[in-house]
Amino acid sequence: MLLPCALLAALLAAGHAGVLFYVPRDSEVSAAGELSDPLCVRSWFVAARKQRASQFVSLILPGAARSLVQVELVLLPALVFDFIPANPCCSLPCQNRGVCMTTGFDRYECDCTRTGYYGENCTTPEFFTWLKLILKPTPNTVHYILTHFKGVWNIINNISFLRDTIMRYVLTSRSHLIDSPPTYNSDYSYKSWEAYSNLSYYTRSLPPVGHDCPTPMGVKGKKELPDSKLIVEKFLLRRKFIPDPQGTNVMFTFFAQHFTHQFFKTDHKKGPGFTKAYGHGVDLNHIYGETLERQLKLRLRKDGKLKYQMIDGEMYPPTVKDTQAEMIYPPHVPEHLQFSVGQEVFGLVPGLMMYATIWLREHNRVCDVLKQEHPEWDDEQLFQTTRLILIGETIKIVIEDYVQHLSGYHFKLKFDPELLFNQRFQYQNRIAAEFNTLYHWHPLLPDTFQIHNQEYTFQQFLYNNSIMLEHGLSHMVKSFSKQSAGRVAGGKNVPAAVQKVAKASIDQSRQMRYQSLNEYRKRFMLKPFKSFEELTGEKEMAAELEELYGDIDAMELYPGLLVEKPRPGAIFGETMVEIGAPFSLKGLMGNTICSPEYWKPSTFGGKVGFEIINTASLQKLICNNVKGCPFTAFHVLNPEPTEATINVSTSNTAMEDINPTLLLKEQSAEL
Ligand code: HEM
Repeated sequence: MLLPCALLAALLAAGHAGVLFYVPRDSEVSAAGELSDPLCVRSWFVAARKQRASQFVSLILPGAARSLVQVELVLLPALVFDFIPANPCCSLPCQNRGVCMTTGFDRYECDCTRTGYYGENCTTPEFFTWLKLILKPTPNTVHYILTHFKGVWNIINNISFLRDTIMRYVLTSRSHLIDSPPTYNSDYSYKSWEAYSNLSYYTRSLPPVGHDCPTPMGVKGKKELPDSKLIVEKFLLRRKFIPDPQGTNVMFTFFAQHFTHQFFKTDHKKGPGFTKAYGHGVDLNHIYGETLERQLKLRLRKDGKLKYQMIDGEMYPPTVKDTQAEMIYPPHVPEHLQFSVGQEVFGLVPGLMMYATIWLREHNRVCDVLKQEHPEWDDEQLFQTTRLILIGETIKIVIEDYVQHLSGYHFKLKFDPELLFNQRFQYQNRIAAEFNTLYHWHPLLPDTFQIHNQEYTFQQFLYNNSIMLEHGLSHMVKSFSKQSAGRVAGGKNVPAAVQKVAKASIDQSRQMRYQSLNEYRKRFMLKPFKSFEELTGEKEMAAELEELYGDIDAMELYPGLLVEKPRPGAIFGETMVEIGAPFSLKGLMGNTICSPEYWKPSTFGGKVGFEIINTASLQKLICNNVKGCPFTAFHVLNPEPTEATINVSTSNTAMEDINPTLLLKEQSAEL
């Protein structure tokens, strides 16, 4: 006698059954060889996969139950899995952003609404979609045009109508690729109020692969992904420093880390899909603290200013002792070097503390300017208005200096919120987990850090705020501006000191059940790669990757981005730019201050405040706040080998000895 389906399901649900497989009796198999009750069988396997197949290795039904029902359950080889229809959405059948919905256990429907496509799998283009497809140049062509023909661009840049039209197109075409309001998160692969309203999650631009799918990538690839440590060692780990051919420097590197760590603040206690940055964008919580409590600790409560200390006539952040705003420092860091700023982790790297100091000075400088204009304002209004001005300055610098540099465009980007006032555009943003993952640009980091006439290894550099006091900001800015950063794409350029961070990026992506690199390419309007060779642009890594992954459609997002063939002379490959730019521009322009009711002089204390935003630049930020106004940029000017002396006492420390992840985790569960 066979165990009735319902009973089996109940036993499974109660966690009893270690039932691996069930052998149908002849009576249950039709002449056509089909099971009479396939749904039941499938539902076990759905349940079984959910509870992890490894638990189902033996029959552990309680003896009594076994004899009672006289169930015939036999261990069979795993191939039985292959007979059972998986969740039909596992094969990701719906194309062109159509939404897959199961209808029963083995059927699905694609919702092609407003995709511009129709048909069972949303594959047939409507007329206008078809026309657009024919006329639209490929991203690589657009990139080529924007990065060549300098003379033509110089003319266009000076014709404001043309510049505005192109900039508007750049902003809308990129940000339309971002769901706004947000849709999925790492726990919800369908739309839900929970996913929309719970700000503690990062959102997702593609839903996670179902737990009931046959492979980690849905149906493609092997049942298990290759060892993440092996992936790092074979394809990501730096052999010899590869400088970025675009000339990106260390000044850019630390700006990137400083700027992004206001919205990439994973709540590791909850898991990789969760964030502690509920503002989901440029709110400058890394300067002012995430909570009101922390903000109040950091504020002077006079003239709108932040607390500070003067050392040798220059302004520096206060210490933790002064503010009581906790930071993460190892116990060996002396009290007077435990600076206290908005972001708890910024004691990690002197480059971060340098930027934290510069922005602190900028805040207090702007407070003075505003007070001149508004002697009638109280501390609160001066503080709040200054914060809005600094948000504006940040966005301006990020678009016109930072993104401008990264893009390599001869077209001059412009921060002008008015460009979007007549467009369909939502002033809101939700940070996506995938954006965080792709931003793990650790290949930017050099092997050692050169400041003035000193060279520091990672071990000497990390958690060493004395560097900032010894050299002063001026030398730091000058030196970081001169030192080259590493190329991000192309593989084999993650410094050994942070290889564990690269491994963690892969492991966490798996935990969040990311879809494949090719699914992400399709999501962002790129053609999927047809082969590993097309991905890497060479043969050696391609062959090894093929052996490990089995199928290009099973290649993972993060390692894929780092091994991708860079665009000629560029820091990134196509995928990083085409996925990263939409997230970035939507996050910047979706800021509240860019909305029509906010974007006017009165929001920023009048003309003077508005002017500070509209004339902001990296160079001006440095000039206004660093003694001697050292020249700076986000790229090296004359890449020349710096003659530096390695600090002999610790110079032979092996890089592999350093484990920043552990270092940090030991201090707290932050980062
Ligand atoms: C000396 C410099 C750096 C060190 C020691 C370092 C180390 C780390 C560590 C230990 C983590 C946590 C990894 C985990 O999830 O377990 C992390 C996360 C991260 N790093 Fe770095 N990193 C450095 C520079 C950079 C730079 C230049 C960037 C460029 C943007 C960057 C981007 C990120 C991002 C986006 C995260 C995720 C943050 C989060 O989710 O909270 N890092 N890094």
